[in-house]
Amino acid sequence: MDRNIGILTAGGDSPGLNAAIRGIGKAAHRTYGMNVIGFRDGFRGLMQNRTIRLDGSTLSGILTAGGTILGTSRDKPHKMPVGGRTMDMTDLMVENYHANHLDALVCLGGGGTQKNALHLAKAGLRVLTLPKTIDNDVAMTDVTFGYDTALTIATETIDRLHSTAHSHHRIVVVEVMGHNAGWLALGSGLAGGADVILIPEIRYDLERVAQAVIERRQAGSTFSIIAVSEGALSREQADNLDKWKTRRKNAGNEYELRKATLKLEQARQEQAEHTHRLARKLEDLTRLESRVTILGHVQRGGVPSPGDRVLATRLGSACARYIDEGIHGVMVAARGEGTEPVPLEEVAGRRKTVPLDHPWVRSARSLGIGFGD
Ligand code: F6P
Repeated sequence: MDRNIGILTAGGDSPGLNAAIRGIGKAAHRTYGMNVIGFRDGFRGLMQNRTIRLDGSTLSGILTAGGTILGTSRDKPHKMPVGGRTMDMTDLMVENYHANHLDALVCLGGGGTQKNALHLAKAGLRVLTLPKTIDNDVAMTDVTFGYDTALTIATETIDRLHSTAHSHHRIVVVEVMGHNAGWLALGSGLAGGADVILIPEIRYDLERVAQAVIERRQAGSTFSIIAVSEGALSREQADNLDKWKTRRKNAGNEYELRKATLKLEQARQEQAEHTHRLARKLEDLTRLESRVTILGHVQRGGVPSPGDRVLATRLGSACARYIDEGIHGVMVAARGEGTEPVPLEEVAGRRKTVPLDHPWVRSARSLGIGFGD
C-alpha cells in the first residue's frame, strides 16, 4: 500500500525552507515511493485541511527560492485564534492527519515548532521535525538551516558599513536579529570585523562600550562598528527586567500585580528600542557622531546560501529515510557531515544560546574585540 506523508512549515520563514521541502519530497517520492502533500500556512493549514500536492512539478525549480512555497504562520495547535477566541484545535488536526491517510507529518521550524510538534506527537501523530531558523538557537543540532544565509547578509552589511563609518569618522551601531541568542551578531561581528559585539548572553556596561571606542580613537582609529543583537541587554536593563519579573511573581494583591505587569511591559518596550538609545548614549560619552542600521527582515529574505541549500537538502533526504525506517517522534539533527534522529522531548523547550567560553567568543576577545563586559 502507498505511504503518504505531509509537510508543513511553521514559525518565521527562513532561507532554505524550500530546499528542505524539495529534499524531503523528492527523496520520499523517488527513493521510497511515498506520496507527499503540503499543508498551507503552518499548523493553521493542518487544522483547516488546506493541502497542496507536492509532486515532481511542484517540487521542481524551488531549490533557490526564498521563503516557503507552503506559507507559514506562528499559530499553535493548542492555542489557535479562531473566530475571536483562542482554542485548542489539536483534535481537528489529528482528524485531518487521518483523513489524509498520513503515515508521517514533517514540521519544519524553530524552537516553537519543536514544542508544537511534540504536542502533536503526544496526541498520537507520527511526527518528525527539521531544525530551521536564522537564529541558530535550536537545541541538540549543530546548526539550523537559514543561519548561514542570514549570517552572510549580516556580514555583507557590516562590510559595507565599514567604508562609510570610516569616511565620516562615526560610530555605526548595526542591529541584527537572533531573538534571545547571540549567534548572528557574534558570527557576523567576527566575520565583518566589528570592534564591539553585544549579545544577549553577555550583559553589557555602556561605559565599557564607550571606553572601547575611545581607546580605538586614541590608537588612531576614528570610527567604530558595534554589532548588536536585537536581544542584547545592558546590565541596567537586565536588572530592571529581573526586578519587575520577580515583583510580578511575588505580587501579593491585584494592585501590585498590575503595577509589576505594566512596568515589565515598559521595560520590554525599552529593551526593544535599545539600539537607538545605545547609539545616542555612545555619542554623548565619546563625542563621536553615531548612526544606526537595523537589518530586520532583510536577513530572512531571498536566495538561500549554498551552505543552507546543502544542509536543508541533506536533512530533508535523511528525514525521508527515517520515515521509511519507521522512525518518528524525532528532530532530524545535523551532526558533523551526517544527521541524527533526536527525540523531540530532548529538543522541545530548550534553547541553544552562545556559551560564554565558546571558541568564537574566546577568539574575538583575543583579538581585542569587546563585549561590553
Ligand atoms: O526567529 C526568527 C526571527 O527572525 C527572530 O530573529 C526575530 O526576533 C523574529 O523572528 C521576528 O519575528 P516576526 O517575523 O514575527 O517579526
